[in-house]
Amino acid sequence: METKKIDTNINEAIEILKSDGLVAFPTETVYGLGANALSETAVKRVFAVKGRPSDNPLIVHVADFEQVKQYVTNFHPLTEKLVDMYWPGPLTLILEPKAGIFPSVVSAGLKTISFRMPNNTKTLALLREANLPLVGPSANTSGRPSPTSAEHVYHDLNGKIEGILDDGSTSIGVESTVLDISDPTKPPMILRPGAITKEQLETDLGIKIALDSYLIKENDTPKSPGMKYKHYSPETNVLMVREEDWHRAVTYAKERQLKVGVMAGPSVAEKVRADTAAVFMYQDDSVEAATRGLFAGLRALDEPLLDLDLILVATFPEEKLGVAYMNRLKKAAAQQYFD
Ligand code: TXA
Ligand code: MG
Repeated sequence: METKKIDTNINEAIEILKSDGLVAFPTETVYGLGANALSETAVKRVFAVKGRPSDNPLIVHVADFEQVKQYVTNFHPLTEKLVDMYWPGPLTLILEPKAGIFPSVVSAGLKTISFRMPNNTKTLALLREANLPLVGPSANTSGRPSPTSAEHVYHDLNGKIEGILDDGSTSIGVESTVLDISDPTKPPMILRPGAITKEQLETDLGIKIALDSYLIKENDTPKSPGMKYKHYSPETNVLMVREEDWHRAVTYAKERQLKVGVMAGPSVAEKVRADTAAVFMYQDDSVEAATRGLFAGLRALDEPLLDLDLILVATFPEEKLGVAYMNRLKKAAAQQYFD
């Protein structure tokens, strides 16, 4: 099959989706692999083309909160407030829907379903005009870094899906915060960190927000099935480098004649450039820029042509957005620091 790049003709994408086809769509976080969430056939294809384990549930993308009200009746008291503050945006809400609406493959057999209204004009128009809820896992092959551009999607899924709605590079760069509010009697809990941070939620809601204990002690079992899988991993070995260790890390690699790639902001990148084979420089030294560039950098430096022995990546303090950045980076680096 030929994978069609769609720029503006939303109707073309709608046609495909209505006949159980797959169309990748842009969001503010990463690209999603869209399919009709009400069609078991379409959803099964999503699992197949990604090579996704069948016990990993999908997020249902909606055009607005009104749509969610058709599927869910028993809401957590904080739902409306969260929706008013953050939708459209990078916050996924786990809710308990009425039985019998979504095929069980969507939730991988769980009783709960997660919903998100993405903040992208083209995708919101698609959701509205198709008038369908769309599943949207990250549009990568399972295990690879999530796609932050249409080219990344094309690289992984060309020939396996019908279309890609192209809207350039995504602005945030890591997947949405997943917040469990499925039990109205329990406080919300973050199962996956993202751009809506624990600090921000606590300030805006005026309550303490729990983190899934797996995010603190990695040997626990995560409540979000997807978090347990090997993720975001390039073929090349990745090591995390703390700010004070760059000089030692680069010297170490040079002495052993390793071909090294570096991912860091300008202040580090400019210093180490002369001693490394490839540099993927984040736009500036902020954690926002690093988060935006993380997956694109891992993909760029993993190119077989570069033939690198090692990719060294800058760490950030684990607070605010740094929690999400480090969560993804640690998986890519299999927890390994340069020591
Ligand atoms: O930003 C995003 O969320 C992107 C864009 C495309 O919207 N989508 C995304 O989907 O990251 P995916 O499928 O790659 O990740 C969904 C995560 C997985 O870790 C999954 O286990 C978890 O959300 N999840 C989904 N439904 C769940 C549920 N009912 N209970 C617990 N975890 C759930
Ligand atoms: Mg994913």
